[in-house]
Amino acid sequence: MPEHTTPAPPTKAVSNGIAPPELDLPYPDRPEIITSNLLKLTELASDQRKRLIFKNLVTHLHQFISETGITTEEWMNTIQFLTRVGKTCTPIRQEFILLSDVLGASALVDALNHPAVGGTTESSVLGPFFTDDAPDLNAGDSIASEGSGEYLFVEGYVRSTSGNPIADALIETWETDSHGFYDTQKAIRDIPDCRGRLRTDKDGKYSYRAVVPVSYPIPADGPVGDLLQLMGRHNMRPNHLHLVIEAAGYHKLTTALYPEGDQFLASDAVFGVKKSLIVKFRDVNDEAEARRRGFPKGGSFKLLEFDIVLASKEEWSATQAQLQKQ
Ligand code: BEZ
Ligand code: FE
Repeated sequence: MPEHTTPAPPTKAVSNGIAPPELDLPYPDRPEIITSNLLKLTELASDQRKRLIFKNLVTHLHQFISETGITTEEWMNTIQFLTRVGKTCTPIRQEFILLSDVLGASALVDALNHPAVGGTTESSVLGPFFTDDAPDLNAGDSIASEGSGEYLFVEGYVRSTSGNPIADALIETWETDSHGFYDTQKAIRDIPDCRGRLRTDKDGKYSYRAVVPVSYPIPADGPVGDLLQLMGRHNMRPNHLHLVIEAAGYHKLTTALYPEGDQFLASDAVFGVKKSLIVKFRDVNDEAEARRRGFPKGGSFKLLEFDIVLASKEEWSATQAQLQKQ
């Protein structure tokens, strides 16, 4: 067995090996020269796309600093804030994603990359509560343990843009319980709850039992929570059901459905709501129907009917090609 030895520390400090650039770089003794020198340096990156990204990053960051007149104290506070964001991240908590979410960056990237085309179902933010251990369920099964909330039945069809049924599409879905918690937020999580994986049948139909989700706060006990306080913004998401749909030959869709009437729809803390994703729950007050659909306690339930339209891989590539040209 080879022995693992710790490499000896270097005896001489060395550069990264890149030679000084052959560029006209005046000494940065005026603020605007710092920006123009750095813009010249961004041209050194070998990849065209990265050159564009660095150029825009430098332009907008420097513009933000100059136009805002950021003070040294404010900039140090910003750096300390970002340091706290990094230190708050753990294997199960991603505070940087949360920061991207509340600043609208996640939703903007998603909106620009997933424009609504050809009647496809629109996308929404994934959020941090997806897990890959949701149980496989059959049509009509429940994703939620009994007592997790008010009964809800969800059903619909998955189709192509030309209306053809998509059989064997995989739907992964997750939601909060009636207290506004995902299972991963509970102190004890023996088995996954309020989440499941199911497949469409030969007609593209899917159905499952769930519970009525409730609006809930995104984590407020870290630096992102402090930022929202400073901005005078609430940290609530309107109630929703998350869905990720995958099918062979189709572009994977990450979306969420938002029942109408929630007071936080228009001011969602993470900008996930789109008009086309607002849905209506129908009240079904029919004991026999509740039992027929498998609700153990019978009584009444809410019904959500929602059809999903996926873009084929070809339609998706054509849209992306169009976006690149713009
Ligand atoms: C969510 O919907 O699960 C979520 C999305 C963004 C931030 C926090 C939560
Ligand atoms: Fe959520």
